[in-house]
Amino acid sequence: MILEPAPTVAQLLAFYLEAGVDCAVMDEPVDRLLDEDIGLPARAEAAPTRSPLTGMPAAAPRPAPTKTEVAPDVAVAAARDAVRTAPTLEALRAIMETFEGCALKGTATRLVFADGNPTARVMLVGEAPGRDEDIEGLPFVGRSGKLLDLMLKAIGLDRTTVYIANVIPWRPPGNRTPTPQETQICLPFIQRQIELVDPDILVTLGNPSTQTLLQTRDGIMKSRGRWVDYDTGTRKICAVATFHPAYLLRSPSYKRMAWIDFRSIAVALEAASGKTT
Ligand code: URA
Repeated sequence: MILEPAPTVAQLLAFYLEAGVDCAVMDEPVDRLLDEDIGLPARAEAAPTRSPLTGMPAAAPRPAPTKTEVAPDVAVAAARDAVRTAPTLEALRAIMETFEGCALKGTATRLVFADGNPTARVMLVGEAPGRDEDIEGLPFVGRSGKLLDLMLKAIGLDRTTVYIANVIPWRPPGNRTPTPQETQICLPFIQRQIELVDPDILVTLGNPSTQTLLQTRDGIMKSRGRWVDYDTGTRKICAVATFHPAYLLRSPSYKRMAWIDFRSIAVALEAASGKTT
């Protein structure tokens, strides 16, 4: 049998990048070759099993987390309790900065709270920050954000006239889909954020944000462009779903339907101002 030479570090990094791994999830690197980390007998006796995929020593189990993990239902209750006392967006942000109930906070670089005008009449909500948002601390600043800006511009809006946030305010590692538990833990935050901004029009971008906030199980093809009431508990806000800009980048043929949705947002905004076109 001819053994392949072990890959170089550069080849391995290229492999991980290709596979979508673009961030480290722990503060300190773990030396998985150390005996105490992988729980093997003394190094001399340890058989170096190699991964067939990378040729590197097979991954050891992750060390136990150092932080106390909070049970999801306790974290949801803690988030709900915390937001009740938030009288302003600044107070809400401060509460979220110190909240320890969501594990995503530990892997994200920073909180991505919001961008835009807190007194705007239109609020848009996406799913979760990606890599660029995690670096800058602002929602929708990457490629999909650039497309969102163009779509807003087409109906005469920009970040001075809209407010933008996400259901999940911390980037999931490697942009993975947030778990239902993570979504439930973060839900009270975005609900309170919507209540405090109190827009006339709420726009959910993509399936996850639509299903979470507008309480529907329909897919985006069915739910988009359909006006519904979003109940903050104190008032009803006109809400509509449309495609996520990242989806439009992958499937540009749906931009035509997105344009119809954005036109209807412009019309609703004018109607809410008492203007006619
Ligand atoms: N996708 C989202 O849903 N939100 C962002 O902020 C960026 C990309």
